Amino acid sequence: MTAATASPGADPLLKLRSEFPVLEQSVYMVSHSLGAMPRAAEAAMAEFGTLWRERSITAWEPWLAEVDLAAARLGRIFGAPAGSVIMLPNVSTVMAVLASCLDYSGKRNRVVYSEMEFPSVSYVWQAEARRGADVVVVPAQDGGRRADAAALCAAIDERTMIVPLSQVMFRYSYIPDVAAIVRRAHEVGALVVLDMYQSVGVLPVDVTALGVDFACGGSVKWLCGGPGAGYLYVRPDHLTEFAPRVTGWFGHHHPFAFSMPAQEYAANMWRYLGGTPVIAAMYQARAGAEIVGALPAAAIRAKSLRQTQRVIDRVEREGFTLNSPRDEVHRGGTVVFDFAGADKVAAALNQAKFYCDHRPGAGIRMSPHFYTSDGECDSFMDEVVRLRDSGAGASAAGAGSYGGSAP
Ligand SMILES: Cc1ncc(COP(=O)(O)O)c(C=O)c1O
Repeated sequence: MTAATASPGADPLLKLRSEFPVLEQSVYMVSHSLGAMPRAAEAAMAEFGTLWRERSITAWEPWLAEVDLAAARLGRIFGAPAGSVIMLPNVSTVMAVLASCLDYSGKRNRVVYSEMEFPSVSYVWQAEARRGADVVVVPAQDGGRRADAAALCAAIDERTMIVPLSQVMFRYSYIPDVAAIVRRAHEVGALVVLDMYQSVGVLPVDVTALGVDFACGGSVKWLCGGPGAGYLYVRPDHLTEFAPRVTGWFGHHHPFAFSMPAQEYAANMWRYLGGTPVIAAMYQARAGAEIVGALPAAAIRAKSLRQTQRVIDRVEREGFTLNSPRDEVHRGGTVVFDFAGADKVAAALNQAKFYCDHRPGAGIRMSPHFYTSDGECDSFMDEVVRLRDSGAGASAAGAGSYGGSAP
């Protein structure tokens, strides 16, 4: 592997490369799965440890403050008003908490979503059938690569309670027409929960302008954090409307009163928190959110479109099958392409520190991010071609590498 040289030149975003040590040792194209670790994340984790070691129980004061700080830091990135975001460990937990707010005993008992949603999200909503939900999965179009707003809108009617919807659909990095789907849902009185895991950090996002009822995501991937720092946004006018059954003592308006037996919900976002928050996760996610939050989202998007186009052009020149959208309106931050033996080539790429991943039926998924140079886009594709031509795609070795199976 030869690390591509990257000079800031005309691209000011490249100045941030020095904040990410891994970029010096690899060609990093896997930010849709796990963003590059910021240098400052280690210091923040050490801060958490020092508080624990030196301050014992009194560490809870800064630790609990960090929960609100983490939520506010993220909320600013996606246009959430102050006090409308809470931290939860992951999107699956967020969905379970939201699902536990709903009652399916009336005529409005449908959950409607596309088959392109992230599987974990589907598992949570499928389980709601046991509580009386009528769960409708809308088939995707174009061999599963596209979720037309028209098909989703047609499935949403007065029986629909909630629509879980990804702003960028993970497998093929497809952007559906969120505005049209939200409009239809609201027209018939349904709620929308927007999964922004694959959008925040790489696209400009404004939950207030979108008008969604709920939104969620996590810090891993485009926000360059580690696992455990997911988040939930609740539109301010809904805040006290819901009382999640999935709850815990930090959801109480006065947790340290230890009152019994029934929950008395907090009147702020902590009512959705449940049990003891994953404090260490807030610390490790801080640096990535600060770095991304300080950058203009429009500049990140413009660069992403330019570099994904560069890769798409090469994919087409090489005769690979492009599975992610070509057009800019529907194109997320990831280029997905396939060819015979792509799984083994992906494993070989990861061995050589050209980080990417592979999904069966989709192919190699690779993503430039704000810290990526054009030269790295080219050297990544050169390596794909070299490995394919060297027969790596035909070798038995490498299938099932961690790079090929991580989220
Ligand atoms: C769109 C989307 N939603 C959710 C997740 C992850 O869900 P969780 O936070 O529950 O692990 C991912 C990827 O890991 C994703 O791409």
